[in-house]
Amino acid sequence: MFDRNRYYVPVKQLKIGMFVSDLDRPWLGTPFLVQGFEITSEEEIQQLTEICQYVYIDKKKSGLFDYSLDEYVPDETSSKIPFKRSYEQSSIKYHRYQIPLDKYSIVEELDNVKFVYEKTRRNIHQTLEKLKLGNEIDVRQSKEVVNDCVDSIFNNKDSLLWFTLIKKRDPYTSEHSLNVTILSIAFARYLGHSAQELQTIGLCGLLHDIGKVDIPLSVLTKEGRFTDEEFEIMKLHPGYGRDYLVKQPNIDYEVVNVAYSHHERMDGSGYPQGLLAPEIPYYARLVAITDTYDAITNDRCYQRGRTTLQAQKILYEGAGNHYDEELVKSFIQWLGIYPPASIVEMSNGEVGIVLSVNPDWKSRPRVVLILDENKEPQTQRIVDLHKNALDEHGNTYHIKMSLPNHSFGINLIDFELNELLNA
Ligand SMILES: [Fe+2]
Repeated sequence: MFDRNRYYVPVKQLKIGMFVSDLDRPWLGTPFLVQGFEITSEEEIQQLTEICQYVYIDKKKSGLFDYSLDEYVPDETSSKIPFKRSYEQSSIKYHRYQIPLDKYSIVEELDNVKFVYEKTRRNIHQTLEKLKLGNEIDVRQSKEVVNDCVDSIFNNKDSLLWFTLIKKRDPYTSEHSLNVTILSIAFARYLGHSAQELQTIGLCGLLHDIGKVDIPLSVLTKEGRFTDEEFEIMKLHPGYGRDYLVKQPNIDYEVVNVAYSHHERMDGSGYPQGLLAPEIPYYARLVAITDTYDAITNDRCYQRGRTTLQAQKILYEGAGNHYDEELVKSFIQWLGIYPPASIVEMSNGEVGIVLSVNPDWKSRPRVVLILDENKEPQTQRIVDLHKNALDEHGNTYHIKMSLPNHSFGINLIDFELNELLNA
């Protein structure tokens, strides 16, 4: 219902004294512990700018301050805001089983993770090579590597994910498929899917883009935007993928569906069929999110990767019209604003890499500090923000902002997880 006191304000126009009653994203996973607060510092405005595009301001609670809200938009127009659009038909098929606890620590799981990651990378590479040569692919072997990924993610939810966020890039399709596999399994674990469902979802991620083997390299690796003609060629890859997969013995129908439908969008604007929300299979909706997230955050041939927050904003803007709204919300809650391997600038100017995140305190992760206040390399050391670590001036550390890869010359590929863990 229309609330006369509720105003919709772009974050760039926020002022100290305004009372924020709601965000354009779930509160969970943000640095704000209370759901609704008065802005008391420029730092809070900076934090809001980092994680939101718009917020809702309560005029009544903001009444003591010397500005007018007349220039802003009352909430009666919120139905016109794209990310608030939603479809009546709920799409969610997952069950909130109790999320299993990790069996091992990240350090204990590390050797196994390296093995699983390399084995999966090899499998994707071989699969694509076989297809290029016109040979049948080995679905049984792909299932086996996906099962290893599932086991590893049940052992420790973060360790395999770390490798995807480090983003080693060579041929775009195989690395991207590897990352989408791992992100999809890890996200589905968070959603409470069974181990068997995770295996199917992982295989969907592994094989979703195999139709790209038939797209000319000149288009696949093109720098800059596609021409209309090139985009028409790219739009053929879901159909190619479906045609390959239906011929394979022992393939699950969900895997074929995802290869064919992962570029469909909820409002019918996707391709190749222009399906509407109720027609898009659930696993295709899930992979559409992990696929988009990986594409935005990774370095591609023509564009450097953007931050997790930028990717989350894009997904949130597309929630409801492009992506399944409930799944996007869950994805953002799962990942949090500073997932492992994020580069972050601290309150005192030091720069570090996020190592691990406590699920209950996502804005206070463990961070390994690598650059000092002057952005010069320093002896690496780990600080745990959840334990109110202090900087050398005795002030409590907190994260000022997240930074894209390559900021201050930091390239995540240069860092090995075990080196960082031993800091
Ligand atoms: Fe694709």
